[in-house]
Amino acid sequence: MVRNTDIIIIGSGVAALQLARQTATDKNVILLTKSSIGHGNSRLAQGGIAAAIGDRDHPFYHFIDSVIAGRSMNNHQATLMMTKEAPQIIRELEMEGCGFDYEENGTLALGKEGAHTQNRIIHGGGDQTGKVLMDYLMRSLPPNVQILENHYVFDLLTNDDGRCFGVKSKHASGVYEFHAPHTVLATGGCGQLYTSTSNASSVTGDGMALAYQAGAELTDMEFIQFHPTLLYIQDKPVGLISEAVRGEGAVLVDEMGTPIMENIHPLRDLAPRHVVSQTIYQKRRNGENVYLDIRDVNHFEQRFPHITNLCLQHGVDLRKGQIPVAPGCHFSMGGVKTDMVGKSTVEGLYAIGEVACTGVHGANRLASNSLLEGLVYGKRLAKHLQDCTEPFLQPKETNEKRKPCLFPLPSKTEIQERMMENVGIVREGRELVRHLQWLESFVQPSEWKEYDLSMLTYEQMTRMFMLQTCWLITQSALEREESRGGHYRSDFPEEQLEWQNKQIIRQKTLEMR
Ligand code: SIN
Repeated sequence: MVRNTDIIIIGSGVAALQLARQTATDKNVILLTKSSIGHGNSRLAQGGIAAAIGDRDHPFYHFIDSVIAGRSMNNHQATLMMTKEAPQIIRELEMEGCGFDYEENGTLALGKEGAHTQNRIIHGGGDQTGKVLMDYLMRSLPPNVQILENHYVFDLLTNDDGRCFGVKSKHASGVYEFHAPHTVLATGGCGQLYTSTSNASSVTGDGMALAYQAGAELTDMEFIQFHPTLLYIQDKPVGLISEAVRGEGAVLVDEMGTPIMENIHPLRDLAPRHVVSQTIYQKRRNGENVYLDIRDVNHFEQRFPHITNLCLQHGVDLRKGQIPVAPGCHFSMGGVKTDMVGKSTVEGLYAIGEVACTGVHGANRLASNSLLEGLVYGKRLAKHLQDCTEPFLQPKETNEKRKPCLFPLPSKTEIQERMMENVGIVREGRELVRHLQWLESFVQPSEWKEYDLSMLTYEQMTRMFMLQTCWLITQSALEREESRGGHYRSDFPEEQLEWQNKQIIRQKTLEMR
């Protein structure tokens, strides 16, 4: 079945909903999500949204903090634009009635997180900012937006001139084609490529794989952020312990209660995430457990109701003042390369939110800049599309014959374990080469497009996409012979000047020549 529309949005997180609600009401929007609406990372976000609204703060300070955390790999123009637009985005949401947390004097409550020099984290529901924001955005969707759930997009349709004109999706009722002059990826990141992750089960890197197959440029794929503090119970991650907990005074300690971040970084427990994660990782490698000592946090239960519940559910007695933690995959700084409004390098294809690489995060994202990025770029793209009067091009016939996928696929667990071991917090050249060979033993990246994915189950499609995105990350991690932000190579442990601002681009047409 084929349906025509003006804008297709794939995904249903903050970026997708912000775009959907801001599009002009005379545009027909179809929003496709492979599970149910809002089932993704955005709803899980605890910390908040960063914006320089405090009396002593300024967007330029926010910009500087973002670039320092990003190890100077940021696109300065994009980062400055985002930090400048942040206060206005917050003011708009506030005026519209999105329920943020306030101080007793009526001003917005501003929290602190790692690598921020100012208190500038706006939050809602204590530690449930993602839920508060998502509930608000969902309530404000206009009637020109049609939401189709359980549609698994498995192909981006492109014309002979390379322009994207829509998608193919699989639903329990059959295979569908949606055609539109504008197709937007808002599919989120790829945290589920790793065993230990804070990400929702649906976040498997599909959008990155789809964009690569459509010929779009992807960049910075080697930069993967590991959040330092996932709650660890019986050696398994069971949820996130927000960095805001350290912002309120919690300290990382070893089994003897000795603080572990002393003498590591001047910002100690609030050092950039990659520094804290690598420190905890080394301790755990040496067989030591690490805890968050929360005894100095005032009114813990009131400020962090969600985390309190999470701990109680898993039998952590908060009266003892220690929460067992370990790092886990949290965010992909890389993704589909876009410009200042979210245009990819393929005509008609856009990317916003975590699937995109706008350059605002550099090699390591500053805390609470992700919801912000989704809000800023969702709005910017909506404005851009409002002014676009693209002719609806006649799509080419898409009934070409493809091969059935008969080759075996590794299990999701095996993919995750191998990624964690070989392309995780610490990487090494020979292991990366071996891992790449393992990935390519299932399907050569040049052949992916020859297969008919419509015959696969959702679960098999997911594993195909996971393999593709793992390959993109591994290739880039092998190529970057230095350590920077979310990419640490034990065989090249220092930052190298010649790699600063050198972006690794992955693009199918170039690589397959
Ligand atoms: C956190 O609350 O620690 C996560 C927020 C973020 O990743 O920005």
